[in-house]
Amino acid sequence: MIIREFKRPDIKRVLEIETSCFNDPYPPSILIDIYNLGAGFLVAQQDNMVVGYIIFWIRYEDEGHIISLAVDKKYRRKNIGSQLVDYAIDIFNKCNVREIKLEVRVGNRGAREFYKESGFEEKKILKNYYEDGEDAVMMRKALKLNFTNKPKD
Ligand SMILES: CC(C)(COP(=O)(O)OP(=O)(O)OC[C@H]1O[C@@H](n2cnc3c(N)ncnc32)[C@H](O)[C@@H]1OP(=O)(O)O)[C@@H](O)C(=O)NCCC(=O)NCCS
Repeated sequence: MIIREFKRPDIKRVLEIETSCFNDPYPPSILIDIYNLGAGFLVAQQDNMVVGYIIFWIRYEDEGHIISLAVDKKYRRKNIGSQLVDYAIDIFNKCNVREIKLEVRVGNRGAREFYKESGFEEKKILKNYYEDGEDAVMMRKALKLNFTNKPKD
């Protein structure tokens, strides 16, 4: 399995995974817009095809945000989601991001467990967050200070 940057031809597989994972998938135009606006967009590739992806950005100066993460059903529980998150965290660390936030549907028990396993804490409920009225759980992970970028005394 390799993790690499998203390229335009990957959009077909990303959309297949997105629509199979979410009842309210992002339309292709929004995904391309997010990419063109400079968000981080990584894909996991195995067996010569894209099997997962993560989209993230720096929302404020030191706050990172995971916009979307999904792994093809056939490739789950093989550590691919964890590696995508770790890769994004490496990039966030290099950008001196101090905390990462994300929202997940309250009913998405699997993803909530996954993020807890990845070191995220459930911070608060966001009422009626989704268009269908479902609440979201806002989750947060603090990142360690990146001392290598600090000036010496
Ligand atoms: C959430 C998701 C990305 C996890 O991807 P994955 O590659 O299967 O996750 P990993 O294999 O790295 O899982 C790491 C650990 O997280 C936990 N975990 C993962 N999925 C879980 C689930 N469905 N239920 C409970 N715990 C889970 C486990 O502890 C797992 O370790 P284990 O397999 O050794 O028990 C994947 O289930 C998915 O695409 N879901 C649909 C889309 C989605 O909900 N995205 C998140 C909201 S943005």
